[in-house]
Amino acid sequence: MQDKDKTRRKVLIGLTSAVGLSGLPFAATPFIAAWNPSAKAKAAGAPVKLDVSKMQFGQQIQVSWRKQPVFIIRHTKESLASLELSLSKLADPNSDLISEPYKGLFPTRSKSSEYSVMSGVCTHLGCAPKYFPEVEPKSWDATWSGGFFCPCHGSMFDIVGRVFKGVPAPTNLIVPPHMFDGSILTIGEDKEL
Ligand code: FES
Repeated sequence: MQDKDKTRRKVLIGLTSAVGLSGLPFAATPFIAAWNPSAKAKAAGAPVKLDVSKMQFGQQIQVSWRKQPVFIIRHTKESLASLELSLSKLADPNSDLISEPYKGLFPTRSKSSEYSVMSGVCTHLGCAPKYFPEVEPKSWDATWSGGFFCPCHGSMFDIVGRVFKGVPAPTNLIVPPHMFDGSILTIGEDKEL
């Protein structure tokens, strides 16, 4: 196979989690295809492109950019509407404590009104927070309204990655530069189309 072909081949990126045990009416899609540059370019931080149109509502997938996990979530209308439920628990609801590229644009914190794009690295000591979108009591929070829980030291974030008060993680999950061209999401690049 030509190198060029190799670099253009579809690379399957693993799915970390889709939905919890909430009985949401869709099945998890185990993989998503991303069109990645060469390994060398990737190591240098080349952008990662993927088509997010096939994601199910409520689904979370993970891709790797600059060797770091990036979470992408396609929100349901209900989950976005439930953002209010955890508002009083948040330490920095407007991301005033960090430099956030698309601050105030959409409740998703991204450039899309439907998808969130955020680093999958806990801002405490770098573990991977787990996605629990269901609104139901959890062992770590009896009034859980969906979000991320970091199993290492118990930090909690809402479904758009905003950190709760009183947890070890100091800030919201970081939003990387990205852009959407229709359903094609590019992570690591942001330019006007
Ligand atoms: S690394 Fe996530 S809570 Fe410590």
